[in-house]
Amino acid sequence: MADTTIPKVTIPSLRAKKAAGEKITALTAYDYPIARILDEAGIDIILVGDSLGMVVLGYENTIPVTMDEMIHHTKPVVRAARRALVVGDMPYFSFHLSEAETIRNASRFLKEAGARAVKVEGASKKRLRLIEGLVEAEIPVMGHVGLTPQSIYHLGQFKVRGGAAKEADNLIRDAIALEAAGVFAVVLECIPMEVARIITGRLAVPTIGIGAGPWCDGQILVFHDMAGCEHGYLPKFVKKYADLQNILTGAVNAYIRDVRAGSFPDDAHSYHMKPEAAKELKKLDRIK
Ligand code: KIV
Repeated sequence: MADTTIPKVTIPSLRAKKAAGEKITALTAYDYPIARILDEAGIDIILVGDSLGMVVLGYENTIPVTMDEMIHHTKPVVRAARRALVVGDMPYFSFHLSEAETIRNASRFLKEAGARAVKVEGASKKRLRLIEGLVEAEIPVMGHVGLTPQSIYHLGQFKVRGGAAKEADNLIRDAIALEAAGVFAVVLECIPMEVARIITGRLAVPTIGIGAGPWCDGQILVFHDMAGCEHGYLPKFVKKYADLQNILTGAVNAYIRDVRAGSFPDDAHSYHMKPEAAKELKKLDRIK
Protein backbone atom coordinates (compact mmCIF):
# COMPACT_ATOMS: atom_id res chain seq x y z
CA MET A 1 0.00 0.00 0.00
CA ALA A 2 1.24 3.53 -0.82
CA ASP A 3 2.73 5.45 2.13
CA THR A 4 0.63 8.62 2.28
CA THR A 5 2.75 10.19 5.04
CA ILE A 6 5.61 11.02 2.67
CA PRO A 7 4.94 14.22 0.68
CA LYS A 8 5.52 13.37 -2.96
CA VAL A 9 7.43 15.54 -5.37
CA THR A 10 4.85 16.98 -7.76
CA ILE A 11 4.94 19.14 -10.84
CA PRO A 12 3.78 22.22 -8.87
CA SER A 13 6.40 21.50 -6.16
CA LEU A 14 9.13 21.45 -8.83
CA ARG A 15 7.94 24.78 -10.15
CA ALA A 16 7.90 26.16 -6.59
CA LYS A 17 11.52 25.03 -6.20
CA LYS A 18 12.48 27.02 -9.28
CA ALA A 19 10.63 30.07 -7.98
CA ALA A 20 12.41 29.73 -4.61
CA GLY A 21 15.81 29.28 -6.28
CA GLU A 22 16.14 25.75 -4.82
CA LYS A 23 18.01 23.29 -7.02
CA ILE A 24 16.16 20.23 -8.36
CA THR A 25 18.02 16.90 -8.22
CA ALA A 26 17.47 14.11 -10.71
CA LEU A 27 19.12 10.81 -11.65
CA THR A 28 18.18 7.87 -13.84
CA ALA A 29 17.27 4.42 -12.52
CA TYR A 30 16.07 1.27 -14.22
CA ASP A 31 15.42 -1.16 -11.33
CA TYR A 32 14.05 -1.47 -7.79
CA PRO A 33 17.25 -1.50 -5.66
CA ILE A 34 18.84 1.55 -7.26
CA ALA A 35 15.56 3.48 -7.38
CA ARG A 36 15.12 2.77 -3.69
CA ILE A 37 18.56 4.14 -2.89
CA LEU A 38 17.86 7.30 -4.89
CA ASP A 39 14.43 7.80 -3.36
CA GLU A 40 15.61 7.27 0.21
CA ALA A 41 18.49 9.68 -0.38
CA GLY A 42 15.91 12.34 -1.29
CA ILE A 43 16.31 12.70 -5.06
CA ASP A 44 13.47 14.78 -6.58
CA ILE A 45 13.08 13.16 -10.00
CA ILE A 46 13.89 9.62 -11.13
CA LEU A 47 14.01 9.33 -14.90
CA VAL A 48 13.68 5.87 -16.36
CA GLY A 49 15.74 7.00 -19.33
CA ASP A 50 16.06 5.18 -22.61
CA SER A 51 19.77 5.27 -21.70
CA LEU A 52 18.57 1.93 -20.30
CA GLY A 53 19.51 0.55 -23.71
CA MET A 54 23.16 1.52 -23.34
CA VAL A 55 23.90 1.16 -19.62
CA VAL A 56 21.75 -1.88 -18.77
CA LEU A 57 20.75 -3.73 -21.95
CA GLY A 58 24.09 -3.50 -23.76
CA TYR A 59 22.86 -1.86 -26.97
CA GLU A 60 25.21 0.42 -28.92
CA ASN A 61 22.81 3.38 -28.64
CA THR A 62 19.23 4.12 -27.56
CA ILE A 63 17.59 3.40 -30.93
CA PRO A 64 16.70 -0.29 -30.34
CA VAL A 65 14.93 0.32 -27.00
CA THR A 66 11.24 -0.70 -27.15
CA MET A 67 8.13 0.45 -25.30
CA ASP A 68 7.83 -2.98 -23.65
CA GLU A 69 11.40 -2.72 -22.31
CA MET A 70 10.70 0.77 -20.97
CA ILE A 71 7.47 -0.32 -19.26
CA HIS A 72 9.18 -3.42 -17.80
CA HIS A 73 11.90 -1.26 -16.20
CA THR A 74 9.61 1.58 -15.12
CA LYS A 75 7.39 -0.70 -13.00
CA PRO A 76 10.03 -1.61 -10.37
CA VAL A 77 11.24 1.99 -10.21
CA VAL A 78 7.70 3.15 -9.43
CA ARG A 79 7.39 0.44 -6.76
CA ALA A 80 10.56 1.78 -5.13
CA ALA A 81 9.84 5.51 -5.36
CA ARG A 82 7.80 6.70 -2.42
CA ARG A 83 8.69 10.39 -2.78
CA ALA A 84 10.41 11.07 -6.11
CA LEU A 85 8.55 11.96 -9.30
CA VAL A 86 9.07 9.07 -11.73
CA VAL A 87 9.32 10.06 -15.39
CA GLY A 88 9.26 7.47 -18.20
CA ASP A 89 11.29 8.21 -21.31
CA MET A 90 9.44 7.74 -24.62
CA PRO A 91 11.78 5.51 -26.69
CA TYR A 92 12.57 5.96 -30.37
CA PHE A 93 9.57 5.28 -32.61
CA SER A 94 7.03 5.43 -29.80
CA PHE A 95 5.98 8.98 -30.78
CA HIS A 96 6.72 9.20 -34.49
CA LEU A 97 3.68 7.77 -36.29
CA SER A 98 0.55 9.59 -35.15
CA GLU A 99 -0.90 11.53 -32.26
CA ALA A 100 -3.16 8.62 -31.32
CA GLU A 101 -0.25 6.17 -31.25
CA THR A 102 1.85 8.65 -29.23
CA ILE A 103 -0.88 9.16 -26.62
CA ARG A 104 -1.49 5.40 -26.41
CA ASN A 105 2.21 4.72 -25.81
CA ALA A 106 2.63 7.56 -23.31
CA SER A 107 -0.48 6.48 -21.41
CA ARG A 108 1.11 3.05 -20.86
CA PHE A 109 3.75 4.73 -18.67
CA LEU A 110 0.99 6.17 -16.47
CA LYS A 111 -1.61 3.37 -16.55
CA GLU A 112 0.55 0.21 -16.71
CA ALA A 113 3.80 1.29 -15.07
CA GLY A 114 2.59 3.99 -12.65
CA ALA A 115 4.95 6.78 -13.77
CA ARG A 116 3.59 10.29 -13.37
CA ALA A 117 5.09 11.92 -16.47
CA VAL A 118 6.89 11.14 -19.72
CA LYS A 119 9.87 12.68 -21.47
CA VAL A 120 9.97 13.34 -25.21
CA GLU A 121 13.08 14.32 -27.18
CA GLY A 122 13.02 17.15 -29.73
CA ALA A 123 11.07 20.30 -30.55
CA SER A 124 10.22 20.12 -34.26
CA LYS A 125 6.83 21.57 -35.28
CA LYS A 126 5.31 18.08 -35.45
CA ARG A 127 6.85 17.15 -32.08
CA LEU A 128 5.35 20.29 -30.49
CA ARG A 129 1.89 19.34 -31.77
CA LEU A 130 2.30 15.85 -30.32
CA ILE A 131 3.35 17.31 -26.97
CA GLU A 132 0.25 19.52 -26.99
CA GLY A 133 -1.82 16.38 -27.65
CA LEU A 134 -0.19 14.57 -24.72
CA VAL A 135 -0.75 17.50 -22.36
CA GLU A 136 -4.37 17.71 -23.56
CA ALA A 137 -4.68 14.00 -22.66
CA GLU A 138 -3.55 14.87 -19.09
CA ILE A 139 -0.08 13.37 -19.58
CA PRO A 140 2.62 15.63 -18.10
CA VAL A 141 5.57 15.99 -20.47
CA MET A 142 9.21 16.82 -19.87
CA GLY A 143 10.91 18.25 -22.96
CA HIS A 144 14.49 17.49 -24.03
CA VAL A 145 16.63 19.62 -26.34
CA GLY A 146 20.31 20.08 -27.16
CA LEU A 147 22.00 16.77 -27.70
CA THR A 148 19.12 14.36 -28.32
CA PRO A 149 20.58 10.84 -28.43
CA GLN A 150 17.69 9.45 -30.51
CA SER A 151 18.94 11.69 -33.37
CA ILE A 152 22.36 9.99 -33.31
CA TYR A 153 22.23 8.86 -36.96
CA HIS A 154 21.46 12.46 -38.04
CA LEU A 155 24.07 13.98 -35.73
CA GLY A 156 26.78 11.42 -36.49
CA GLN A 157 28.28 11.68 -33.02
CA PHE A 158 27.48 12.76 -29.47
CA LYS A 159 28.84 16.32 -29.23
CA VAL A 160 28.01 19.75 -27.80
CA ARG A 161 25.04 21.45 -29.49
CA GLY A 162 24.42 25.19 -29.68
CA GLY A 163 28.06 26.24 -29.88
CA ALA A 164 27.46 28.56 -32.86
CA ALA A 165 25.25 31.65 -32.44
CA LYS A 166 22.58 30.49 -34.92
CA GLU A 167 22.37 27.05 -33.35
CA ALA A 168 22.18 28.62 -29.87
CA ASP A 169 19.40 30.92 -31.04
CA ASN A 170 17.49 27.89 -32.40
CA LEU A 171 17.89 26.11 -29.07
CA ILE A 172 16.50 29.10 -27.16
CA ARG A 173 13.56 29.27 -29.57
CA ASP A 174 12.95 25.51 -29.21
CA ALA A 175 12.94 25.69 -25.41
CA ILE A 176 10.47 28.59 -25.45
CA ALA A 177 8.26 26.69 -27.91
CA LEU A 178 8.33 23.61 -25.66
CA GLU A 179 7.14 25.70 -22.73
CA ALA A 180 4.36 27.14 -24.88
CA ALA A 181 3.38 23.57 -25.86
CA GLY A 182 2.86 22.78 -22.18
CA VAL A 183 5.93 20.89 -20.90
CA PHE A 184 6.48 21.02 -17.13
CA ALA A 185 10.31 21.00 -17.41
CA VAL A 186 12.97 20.91 -20.10
CA VAL A 187 16.12 18.78 -20.11
CA LEU A 188 19.05 20.69 -21.65
CA GLU A 189 21.68 18.19 -22.74
CA CYS A 190 25.26 19.00 -23.67
CA ILE A 191 24.98 22.70 -24.49
CA PRO A 192 27.19 25.68 -23.53
CA MET A 193 26.43 26.96 -20.05
CA GLU A 194 25.84 30.47 -21.39
CA VAL A 195 22.99 29.20 -23.59
CA ALA A 196 21.53 27.18 -20.71
CA ARG A 197 21.62 30.31 -18.55
CA ILE A 198 19.63 32.31 -21.11
CA ILE A 199 17.06 29.52 -21.48
CA THR A 200 16.74 29.09 -17.70
CA GLY A 201 16.14 32.84 -17.33
CA ARG A 202 13.51 32.86 -20.10
CA LEU A 203 11.41 29.90 -18.93
CA ALA A 204 8.93 29.77 -16.06
CA VAL A 205 9.24 25.97 -16.00
CA PRO A 206 12.42 24.40 -14.59
CA THR A 207 15.39 23.48 -16.76
CA ILE A 208 17.22 20.27 -15.86
CA GLY A 209 20.76 20.25 -17.16
CA ILE A 210 23.05 17.42 -18.17
CA GLY A 211 26.28 18.85 -19.49
CA ALA A 212 24.65 22.28 -19.53
CA GLY A 213 26.52 24.01 -16.70
CA PRO A 214 25.60 25.28 -13.25
CA TRP A 215 22.84 27.78 -14.03
CA CYS A 216 20.08 25.27 -14.79
CA ASP A 217 17.31 24.91 -12.21
CA GLY A 218 18.29 21.29 -11.66
CA GLN A 219 20.77 18.64 -12.71
CA ILE A 220 20.47 15.08 -13.97
CA LEU A 221 23.07 12.39 -14.65
CA VAL A 222 22.84 8.78 -15.77
CA PHE A 223 23.19 6.76 -12.56
CA HIS A 224 25.65 4.22 -13.98
CA ASP A 225 27.93 7.04 -15.18
CA MET A 226 28.05 8.94 -11.88
CA ALA A 227 28.39 5.74 -9.86
CA GLY A 228 31.26 4.42 -12.00
CA CYS A 229 29.45 1.37 -13.27
CA GLU A 230 29.68 2.00 -16.99
CA HIS A 231 31.63 0.14 -19.63
CA GLY A 232 32.14 2.78 -22.26
CA TYR A 233 33.19 6.33 -22.88
CA LEU A 234 32.32 8.93 -20.22
CA PRO A 235 31.52 12.45 -21.47
CA LYS A 236 33.38 15.42 -19.92
CA PHE A 237 30.26 16.54 -18.06
CA VAL A 238 30.05 13.37 -15.94
CA LYS A 239 31.46 13.57 -12.43
CA LYS A 240 32.17 10.10 -11.05
CA TYR A 241 30.97 9.98 -7.43
CA ALA A 242 31.88 6.32 -6.88
CA ASP A 243 33.82 3.54 -8.53
CA LEU A 244 31.27 0.76 -8.37
CA GLN A 245 32.91 -1.21 -11.14
CA ASN A 246 36.11 -1.64 -9.13
CA ILE A 247 34.23 -2.29 -5.90
CA LEU A 248 32.05 -4.95 -7.54
CA THR A 249 34.96 -6.54 -9.42
CA GLY A 250 36.85 -6.78 -6.11
CA ALA A 251 33.85 -8.44 -4.45
CA VAL A 252 33.39 -10.99 -7.25
CA ASN A 253 37.12 -11.83 -7.32
CA ALA A 254 37.10 -12.38 -3.56
CA TYR A 255 34.05 -14.68 -3.86
CA ILE A 256 35.73 -16.74 -6.60
CA ARG A 257 38.89 -17.03 -4.48
CA ASP A 258 36.92 -18.13 -1.38
CA VAL A 259 34.83 -20.73 -3.23
CA ARG A 260 37.90 -22.19 -4.94
CA ALA A 261 39.79 -22.30 -1.63
CA GLY A 262 36.82 -23.89 0.21
CA SER A 263 36.73 -21.02 2.70
CA PHE A 264 33.19 -20.06 1.66
CA PRO A 265 30.72 -21.06 2.93
CA ASP A 266 32.17 -21.35 6.44
CA ASP A 267 30.33 -22.27 9.63
CA ALA A 268 29.02 -18.73 10.08
CA HIS A 269 27.26 -18.88 6.71
CA SER A 270 25.83 -22.42 7.03
CA TYR A 271 22.91 -24.08 8.87
CA HIS A 272 23.07 -26.87 11.47
CA MET A 273 20.44 -29.49 12.24
CA LYS A 274 19.04 -29.51 15.76
CA PRO A 275 20.87 -32.29 17.72
CA GLU A 276 17.60 -34.26 18.30
CA ALA A 277 16.78 -34.17 14.61
CA ALA A 278 20.32 -35.31 13.75
CA LYS A 279 19.93 -38.23 16.22
CA GLU A 280 16.61 -39.24 14.67
CA LEU A 281 18.08 -39.07 11.18
CA LYS A 282 20.92 -41.27 12.36
CA LYS A 283 18.34 -43.81 13.50
CA LEU A 284 16.91 -43.76 10.00
CA ASP A 285 20.39 -44.79 8.90
CA ARG A 286 20.99 -41.62 6.98
CA ILE A 287 24.01 -40.44 9.05
CA LYS A 288 26.87 -42.93 9.32
O1 KIV B 1 17.88 8.56 -21.40
C1 KIV B 1 18.35 9.29 -20.52
O2 KIV B 1 18.93 8.82 -19.52
C2 KIV B 1 18.23 10.72 -20.68
C3 KIV B 1 18.99 11.59 -19.74
C4 KIV B 1 20.42 11.56 -20.10
C5 KIV B 1 18.46 12.96 -19.67
O3 KIV B 1 17.57 11.16 -21.56
